[in-house]
Amino acid sequence: MATCYDYTFACLVNDTDIDCVLVGDSCANVMHGEETTIPATIRMMAEHTRAVHRGLPGKFLVADMPFLSTRLGRKHGIQAAGKLITAGADAVKIEGADGNTELISYLVQSGIPVMGHLGLTPQFYHAFGGYKIQGKSDAAAEKLVTDARALQNAGCFAIVAECIPSETAQAVTGAIDIPLIGIGAGAVADGQVLVLHDLLGFTSFKPKFVRQYLDGAGLVKSALNAYCADVRTGAFPTEKESFTK
Ligand code: KIV
Repeated sequence: MATCYDYTFACLVNDTDIDCVLVGDSCANVMHGEETTIPATIRMMAEHTRAVHRGLPGKFLVADMPFLSTRLGRKHGIQAAGKLITAGADAVKIEGADGNTELISYLVQSGIPVMGHLGLTPQFYHAFGGYKIQGKSDAAAEKLVTDARALQNAGCFAIVAECIPSETAQAVTGAIDIPLIGIGAGAVADGQVLVLHDLLGFTSFKPKFVRQYLDGAGLVKSALNAYCADVRTGAFPTEKESFTK
């Protein structure tokens, strides 16, 4: 599983072996240059979801419910989720368990599949005091197990676990029957998710859990510099690249 935010990359991802694509609220960071995911809105998420859906009709598409969109009551929650589904998502993802399970059941009963998200849930940046590994103590690990069971009971079809120790991920996945998708949760998870721009090396963000499969930034910069050099030396455009009467 990888994230995607725009049509051009969606067309590329559609031709790969990736099973599942997430229009993450990390689009606030990656596409809009925000410091956290907190400024993401339903409007932003729906726009990106629509663009991605057009490019990858063949993939299972999950879209993130942004900050506070699950906390304004059932009616607001289902309207927000509905906007993502009508924009082309097959499911929505919701961060955190406490206070969300009732809405999750309601969405699931209304035909909206829900993926859970536990651990270092970025929308809790202020509550966590920054981006910190979660589930380290026995009590914190036990709480994650309880939350994962609650999400499963509410009807989630899978759970993302972000930045937790492998031992905690093992305890969580051992306690549930639905797939656990890890990001910084070790190899015990049933699947993995990464931010597309991190794994393709387009961002300077390189935490321990990211493996870069491409030097995207390096390739783009050298291509742009080659273009500049050709324009400056007159090597571009040639006659073949120009029109004649
Ligand atoms: O927004 C996001 O990109 C995410 C994943 C990294 C899990 O939630």
